[in-house]
Amino acid sequence: MSDRYAVIGNPVTHSKSPLIHAEFARATGQDIDYGRIEAPLDGFAQAVERWRLSGGKGLNVTLPFKHEAFRLCARVTDRARLAQAVNTMRFDDSFGDNTDGVGLTRDLSDNLGVALKGKAILLLGAGGAAQGVVGALLDAGVVRLVIANRTVPKAEALAARFPGATACGYDSLGNERFAVVINATSAGLAHESPPLPKKLLGKGILAYDMVYGRETPFLAAARKAGARTCDGLGMLVEQAAESFYLWRGVRPSTRPVLAKLRGS
Ligand code: ATR
Repeated sequence: MSDRYAVIGNPVTHSKSPLIHAEFARATGQDIDYGRIEAPLDGFAQAVERWRLSGGKGLNVTLPFKHEAFRLCARVTDRARLAQAVNTMRFDDSFGDNTDGVGLTRDLSDNLGVALKGKAILLLGAGGAAQGVVGALLDAGVVRLVIANRTVPKAEALAARFPGATACGYDSLGNERFAVVINATSAGLAHESPPLPKKLLGKGILAYDMVYGRETPFLAAARKAGARTCDGLGMLVEQAAESFYLWRGVRPSTRPVLAKLRGS
């Protein structure tokens, strides 16, 4: 029987993870079966246990359960501890990791050709999505990382956990220019944009939104201002590749899968 994995979340109906992992498995010759589990909001731990007892080897965890997954794992990596969130569970050794941050930095560097070392980056938002990538951005050698959030104390609390990051509100973003502006807010899901001063987006800037599959108001404004824009599909594929590697010890090639998902 194939080794079984799944993505667990609520909702998960539209998750592209099964497709991505099926492509990775085909390309690397790994015999795995990858499904979807929609856990009730108050029944995450039970759903994980059921999956494990039924022979499941591991899980990808998505919204809104990444923090609960972190608390459930007996052993987590440093990057998962810093993010306070787990998106990859491996049951053989009760292990939890977070591959979101490395997914983002690999998409930026390998797929989009943005060298992060020495760059100034602006990260919008201070919720779960932002929390998962701060450590990886700093590890990639960014020289300045500013976290801007509508609720400023939340940005301050997040920055306080990472030496090298600073926090502010949107209205105190001054004249500083950033090479990359990353939208890690959930504003796009409500067809809204964080209230970013227009001058921060323009030619020579990469505007990146972690939401994928649609042009968010943030990306639309950035495109109109002349910035280069990108959604988070590459991050999704890269974080999946890192999870696949953690489970199978084989690193799948991501380019063909990303191209396929983009329909090119
Ligand atoms: P999660 O942890 O599940 O990502 P969250 O903690 O609610 O969810 O985080 C969502 C992020 O998007 C927050 O940074 C939130 O800003 P606040 O902390 O001020 O609430 C941000 N966000 C959501 N809608 C927004 C909007 N319309 N404009 C600006 N920021 C928004």
